[in-house]
Amino acid sequence: MDEKIAIIGGTGDLGLGLALRWAGAGLGIVIGSRDEQKARAAAQRAKDILNLDPARRRDIPITGLENTAACAGADVVVLAVPFPAQAATLKSIRGSLKEAILVDATVPLAATVGGKATRVLGVWQGSAAAQARELAPAGTRVLSAFHNVSAEVLQDLSAVPDCDVLICGDDQGAKKTLSTLIERIPGLRPVDAGPLEMARIVESLTALLISVNQRYKVKHSGIRITGVAANSV
Ligand SMILES: NC(=O)c1ccc[n+]([C@@H]2O[C@H](COP(=O)([O-])OP(=O)(O)OC[C@H]3O[C@@H](n4cnc5c(N)ncnc54)[C@H](OP(=O)(O)O)[C@@H]3O)[C@@H](O)[C@H]2O)c1
Repeated sequence: MDEKIAIIGGTGDLGLGLALRWAGAGLGIVIGSRDEQKARAAAQRAKDILNLDPARRRDIPITGLENTAACAGADVVVLAVPFPAQAATLKSIRGSLKEAILVDATVPLAATVGGKATRVLGVWQGSAAAQARELAPAGTRVLSAFHNVSAEVLQDLSAVPDCDVLICGDDQGAKKTLSTLIERIPGLRPVDAGPLEMARIVESLTALLISVNQRYKVKHSGIRITGVAANSV
């Protein structure tokens, strides 16, 4: 049976993009929000978008709940909130994570505190993912992923993303589980980028992509790793 996925911050750009792609592929999605009504509205919006495509029109497995309720019963919890909100959000959901794999997508961009979008903030722990590791309950399998994927492309269902998803983490089984979920989104390829400490580098690549986007006046540049076999996670 497919994993049940909760997306914390699923009302936002990245979260909604992932929700659309995964729910469109038939995976069960719970959109989490600080505000249950907002979560429900986002779930309805996602259903409405998916319903526009007759090929996808069926019972779309997507609901909206307050963040802690969204985590309860989830096998995989994706954290997709701005860096300044990451610590408080994790503290609010940590009691509800249970056995779930926690996938942190946070990029500590300087823009989130009024700085340049092409700069990353120094994080005491080394990376946003390492901060997530510190704040999650002991024993939680923490991965980092999705930093280099454009939310805009994910939300544009007429587009096929062209990007590798670099997964960092210290639990190989959790990486395999996430890889299988990533492969359900055409155009995305999971790549094992090593231990969680590599997240520091992957997070900073987003600032690089934003710089490339600015120069080429696009919103969707991505990363491809050459020389590794597909499905090698
Ligand atoms: N956008 C992209 O293309 C992209 C790509 C890769 C990675 N990322 C990373 O993914 C994360 C989410 O990005 P995004 O663009 O989706 O962000 P966003 O749209 O600005 O925010 C996502 C959600 O986070 C919650 N949130 C916002 N401010 C908050 C606060 N002060 N306290 C608590 N929760 C707050 C909100 O949900 P509720 O109000 O419903 O609780 C919001 O809908 C970021 O760390 C970003 O760096 C983004």
